[in-house]
Amino acid sequence: MTVPASSKQRAAALHKELNQHSHAYYVLDRPTIPDAEYDRLFRELQALESEYPELISADSPTQRVGDAPLAAFASARHRLPMLSLNNGFSDEDIQAFDKRVRDALDAGAIDYFCELKFDGLAVNLTYERGVFVRGATRGDGATGEQVTANLRTIKTIPLRLSDSAPPELLEVRGEVIMFKKGFAQMNRRQREAGEKEFVNPRNAAAGALRQLDPRMTAQRPLRFFAYGIGDRAGGSPAASHDELLKKLAASALPVNDLGRVCHGAEGVLGFYREIGAMRATLPYEIDGVVYKVNRYDFQNQLGFVSRAPRFAIAHKFPAEEALTEVLDIDVQVGRTGAMTPVARLKPVFVGGATVTNATLHNEDEVRRKDVRIGDTVTVRRAGDVIPEVVGVVLERRPGDAREFVMPSACPVCGSRVVRGEGEAVSRCTGGLVCSAQRKQAILHYASRRAMDIEGLGEKIVDQLVDGGHIHSLADIYAVSVPQLGALERMGEKSAMNLVAGIETSKQTTLQRFIYALGIRNAGEATARHLARHFGGLQALLDADLEALQQVPDVGPVVAQAIIDFLAEPHNLAVIEALRRHGVVWAESDPVVRAPAPSSKIDGATFVLTGTLPSLSRDDAKARIEAAGGRVAGSVSKKTNYVVVGEEAGSKLADANKLNIPLLDEAGLLTLLQENERTDA
Ligand code: IVH
Repeated sequence: MTVPASSKQRAAALHKELNQHSHAYYVLDRPTIPDAEYDRLFRELQALESEYPELISADSPTQRVGDAPLAAFASARHRLPMLSLNNGFSDEDIQAFDKRVRDALDAGAIDYFCELKFDGLAVNLTYERGVFVRGATRGDGATGEQVTANLRTIKTIPLRLSDSAPPELLEVRGEVIMFKKGFAQMNRRQREAGEKEFVNPRNAAAGALRQLDPRMTAQRPLRFFAYGIGDRAGGSPAASHDELLKKLAASALPVNDLGRVCHGAEGVLGFYREIGAMRATLPYEIDGVVYKVNRYDFQNQLGFVSRAPRFAIAHKFPAEEALTEVLDIDVQVGRTGAMTPVARLKPVFVGGATVTNATLHNEDEVRRKDVRIGDTVTVRRAGDVIPEVVGVVLERRPGDAREFVMPSACPVCGSRVVRGEGEAVSRCTGGLVCSAQRKQAILHYASRRAMDIEGLGEKIVDQLVDGGHIHSLADIYAVSVPQLGALERMGEKSAMNLVAGIETSKQTTLQRFIYALGIRNAGEATARHLARHFGGLQALLDADLEALQQVPDVGPVVAQAIIDFLAEPHNLAVIEALRRHGVVWAESDPVVRAPAPSSKIDGATFVLTGTLPSLSRDDAKARIEAAGGRVAGSVSKKTNYVVVGEEAGSKLADANKLNIPLLDEAGLLTLLQENERTDA
């Protein structure tokens, strides 16, 4: 059957359009049409192709999924070997590398192209006359496995390069990775299906790429970043790495946009520190950065030693995961009595620090991860996040490994431990009788966002409570310089400073005071709403359940928690004692202090995505909250604004899908300023 010209044309137009939309969606994170519209075009193409199978070509968007499972992967010998990189770990390693480069070239300061070292799998994509025909893993560098059908399922890999005159042959090299979010979603699905979870995004990506059934791969959220080429025939060569990457991006290949040219050793070390600071907030995992001599004539002059180039080096970050042994599992009692199982670990250096404890969150988590005393476990410490146990190396479990049992009595005060129905958390019922809860309550009271008493940290609070100097919050205001001076690691000068800090904290605001009390479920935002709504403390103390629920952000659960807290005579006694000690704030008339209704921030929900040019995520969050807004973790119909920075992730796509207004940093700052004006 001959294919009518009109159908041929329509199919070609659909190819082009669908490929453009999917590039915009997956690579640029800027969806151009609604999903349903994409699906409609996709189905139209499928229908055409099923009528005229001759129309099916290797680069058709319909060919990304659905290939039949393979029995095994064919091996693929690389036309040019896929090499590895030498590693550097310290500034000195990098300075020595830079010196070797300069000496060999007999040149002054060198321009290096600095990019991220993605923690995934290297692949080689072969494009013939612009069409993706073959893809292989790195394997041993000389021979890999052909995983073409699986690579086709990765939406960011163009099936056809967008060049008008593509080269005869182009081998694109880059890394297949799984974004952190996709990884978390995938593991949630695994968990729900009762299947084994993956320990990290790299393993998950590797597993997905080596699925014999491409339909399985298609369900895994894989991504790709190009960082170089292998063989090439035809087309014009680039003179520098910078130029090459620009060309690749122009051909619709996904190139990470954090890479840039830096000058000399000093420049690249600056890049290392900059990226290191962003590492934890990036949407994907990296294990370092890579510096490549930018000029290709220089690269060729430098050449290779054995299996690694002389012109490039990987500067590694401290590993975020390490193996160690669980010496014991005990429980930590929090401010509200929550009992958190904590693994006591054989000290291990991970994420740039020595870790001796890792949280296990709650009893169910201990069971789910099946962590036992004596086990060898993977510990993870990323950025400033609390270290956690990722998983157990079952092969190394000793015969005498012991299971963890949640104690029925609080290990600190002996009070009963209860676990509410449907709750994951077990709690000590001791309240402020429990010295652990008391310590946490004091630390919370003194914390920066509460009463902001500088210098009243964990070590000092431990000693003050254990030494019987502080029984309740109000006793903070009775500690003396000699008492403090007698503590370990406390000189007279620090003792005086601390007493001065305690004194200063007495001048506060009603909002801080309410927050500082540590009422369960009443965070900073709730405290602010309560302070605004009631204007003074007495009105809050007098409020009943119904009155409390009139306050924005206060539902039945929070209202009940406040009622319960205030029904305890010892809590009222503490409030009174604090006031007797001179804790004061300016009171105002109820509700009158509420912001003018024109405020666009008060009560609005914001979602942050990507890196903002000047504000850190914490700053942005703090400023939005200070203006009465809320910052949520994911986009929903209830979101009022999505604040978008660089490398914005899928939240941006979600926002576009739901038609949520977008703000950049400047837009957010303008809104904050307007708010100050309406609030005044
Ligand atoms: S360039 C000749 N650039 O690191 C240099 N590699 O140890 C070839 N990798 O197998 C590699 N990010 O899996 C290069 N921006 C990047 C990279 C990168 C990650 C991986 C890649 C390679 C290994 C080299």
